[in-house]
Amino acid sequence: MNINEILDPTTWLTPNGGPRYIQLKRRIELAIRDGLLDPGTPLPPEREIANMTSLSRVTVRKAVQPLVEDDLIIQRRGSGTIVAPQVTKVEQSLSRLTSFTEDMDRRGMNVTSTWLERGVFLPSAEEALVLGLGTDESVSRVSRLRLADSVPLAIERASLSTQMLPNPLAVVSSLYETLDKSGSKPVRAVQRISATNLTAQDAELLEVEKGIAGLQIARVSYLESGEVVELTHSIYRGDAFNFVAELQLPED
Ligand code: GLP
Repeated sequence: MNINEILDPTTWLTPNGGPRYIQLKRRIELAIRDGLLDPGTPLPPEREIANMTSLSRVTVRKAVQPLVEDDLIIQRRGSGTIVAPQVTKVEQSLSRLTSFTEDMDRRGMNVTSTWLERGVFLPSAEEALVLGLGTDESVSRVSRLRLADSVPLAIERASLSTQMLPNPLAVVSSLYETLDKSGSKPVRAVQRISATNLTAQDAELLEVEKGIAGLQIARVSYLESGEVVELTHSIYRGDAFNFVAELQLPED
């Protein structure tokens, strides 16, 4: 879809759709979030957008300004306006044990997931070791692409013993919410973060270039009793997250 088609007002401007500048803002915002406008794409100057949409220049300016403030587009004096090269960074604390849903909820973002795998399988050697499974036991796997406000941010592959999660199909949106219902929500976790370059397959799911930097996160979480709840391997978009840790002086 080219910019002319995206801005064609017959496809999005309606008399009952609210203020026209909001309708235009929403149109451009959705085109960016849905990947119709790639990062770095130049946007036509205000005057041209006004011609293309039959809106006034003032209306166009009012639509564009909040998109600049939200870091979705960048206005450079002299060189015009382009779609911003990266998603807004999500700041995430390294000391709080929270779920993806809780993290995004707190920021007012809407979480959705696409299922990659959900079922009961024979455990891999790593799953058997970490989850303490015998060779004759099965493992529940819940693998998802996680999106916030329709932007794919992470791929999460969680493995749990069938004792912790007997029916992976019971996970509808939040894994921790499902675990909470059966009294198995973790209270402690150890998380390891390392750098990675995204494989072609993961990059395609996350809608970014193959090979760009990502964060690989492995979380093992526990119940109060010390029993392991989950082993989750996640791949987060490197351009979308800042992990923040509060540091204190040692006591001795
Ligand atoms: C985080 C953790 C995962 C955990 C997930 C649960 O993203 N990295 O280890 O499985 O949260 O999230 P939710 O409850 O939204 O499914």
